[in-house]
Amino acid sequence: MASEPVSIGLNLGHDGGCAIVRGDEVVAIAEERINRTRYSSGWHAALNYCLDAFDLRLEDADTVVFSGVGPRLPAGFTGGLDRYGVEPGRIQVVDHHLSHAFSAFCLSGFDEALVVVADGAGNDQDTESYYLAGGSGMERVGGNRADRPRAGGIGATYEAFTNFVGFHEQEAGKTMALASFGDAGRHPSPLFDLVGSRVEGRLTATHERGLVEFAARAGIELGAPHQIDDQASKDAAAWVQRETEDILVRLVTTLTAQHDVRQVCLAGGVGMNCVANGVLRRGAGVDLFVVPPASDRGQALGNALYGMWRLTGAMPRRPLRTDSFGREYDEDEIRLALRRHPWSTIVERHPRHRFGYQAISDPAAVAARLLADGKLIGWFQGGSELGARALGRRSILADPRRREIRDALNARIKHREWFRPFAPAVLEEDAGKWFDLDHESPFMLEAVQVRPEQREQLAGVTHIDGSARVQTVDEAVQPQFHRLIRQFGDLTGVPVVLNTSFNDREPIVETPAHAVATFSASELDALVIGGFLVTKE
Ligand SMILES: [Fe+2]
Repeated sequence: MASEPVSIGLNLGHDGGCAIVRGDEVVAIAEERINRTRYSSGWHAALNYCLDAFDLRLEDADTVVFSGVGPRLPAGFTGGLDRYGVEPGRIQVVDHHLSHAFSAFCLSGFDEALVVVADGAGNDQDTESYYLAGGSGMERVGGNRADRPRAGGIGATYEAFTNFVGFHEQEAGKTMALASFGDAGRHPSPLFDLVGSRVEGRLTATHERGLVEFAARAGIELGAPHQIDDQASKDAAAWVQRETEDILVRLVTTLTAQHDVRQVCLAGGVGMNCVANGVLRRGAGVDLFVVPPASDRGQALGNALYGMWRLTGAMPRRPLRTDSFGREYDEDEIRLALRRHPWSTIVERHPRHRFGYQAISDPAAVAARLLADGKLIGWFQGGSELGARALGRRSILADPRRREIRDALNARIKHREWFRPFAPAVLEEDAGKWFDLDHESPFMLEAVQVRPEQREQLAGVTHIDGSARVQTVDEAVQPQFHRLIRQFGDLTGVPVVLNTSFNDREPIVETPAHAVATFSASELDALVIGGFLVTKE
């Protein structure tokens, strides 16, 4: 039986998952990482994973908190857990946006802050909501009009453009990348008005149809839908990107003046727009914290933190140093996967390469040497990240200096669209020499400019507009990843590596068996996993 209070959070919507907070400890994971279906809803596998990590049973939970998207969950909702020994009185529901707000503030390290939540859809018509948060709780201080359709929200508008240019609405990051190739000046019309602190968007229907109808009403020529190579699509992407940046700066400037605060937390899927985040920090002149699992992947965590607040009456404060919320795997578990033992719950992928492995004493040094030799490697160390970004625990790494390595990575392994950039990870102490950056950026949530004199050296990670979605690596937080980058810097003169997520059109690998399966089915040259080097025969 647990001696400290235990709060379990479960997300019923897309990007389902589970988080457990026990005292100061947190474990969390998205359902997709275990069931291997992207953006999967559901939480059962994630719940088992989190209970196992803490060696808890469901009935040990002091509270279980659900959230969902769309219509509000009814009072008395149990999710069926009452059949598994959880008293109905311990099960509660929380508003979708309030959950986002808890995830951001509790992890921010701020004592007091304005919290802005902006996403495609919360409960009912919620798309923007604002809170003042402090040590004992948080209070909602505004948001969109309750009777304004969600189509007029920042996130839903971005989704409509994303559909129009040819992507699923969950793939807004692709629209953001495409925007760098477009000319926003071709579309001077605003997409949002700010009335007081309320966002009033011009679209009146969601998805592609909403944008097409708006353009017809306004007499705007958008070009053909689903043509990412057309200049018109790039210009449309640039338009929604500019308008998103503009409305966020105006909104946050208004709210911080109104409430006399300078510290701002941002959550909700709009917070994944790393280009807008950089513009917001500079444009509104605020101390900005964006929670790494800003999208609905963060719901389960927000729910569990909310549950802890309800149990104790105090805001659970967990200033975030790392987005690693997954369990670790020991050498025996890794060895089972390398031997392709059924106990490792191996997943088979095709085609499959034969491979061999050996124990190594200095994984960081071995990996650095491989990268300097032009190899593409998988890097698996420690517990996985909860958010969408691989930050050095489930990563594919490459030499950032050469454009052709980036293209090889795209063509041979990641199979991504040509216009999407890869991100750099840099030693925190060297970041200012390579990027226009004067603060740490450990979660890859802000795009900054690569210093012009370094762009040639960083050709593989510099986007068309000279930007990069940089990750700064702190030796105290990630000593092994830091050592890898430092050793690569010693060998090449460039203390930067290209860092992308360890996957190929699938959820990021979670277990050693997933990593081995993806490695053997891919054109990766090597895999450094725990204390082992794996190479193809
Ligand atoms: Fe959300």
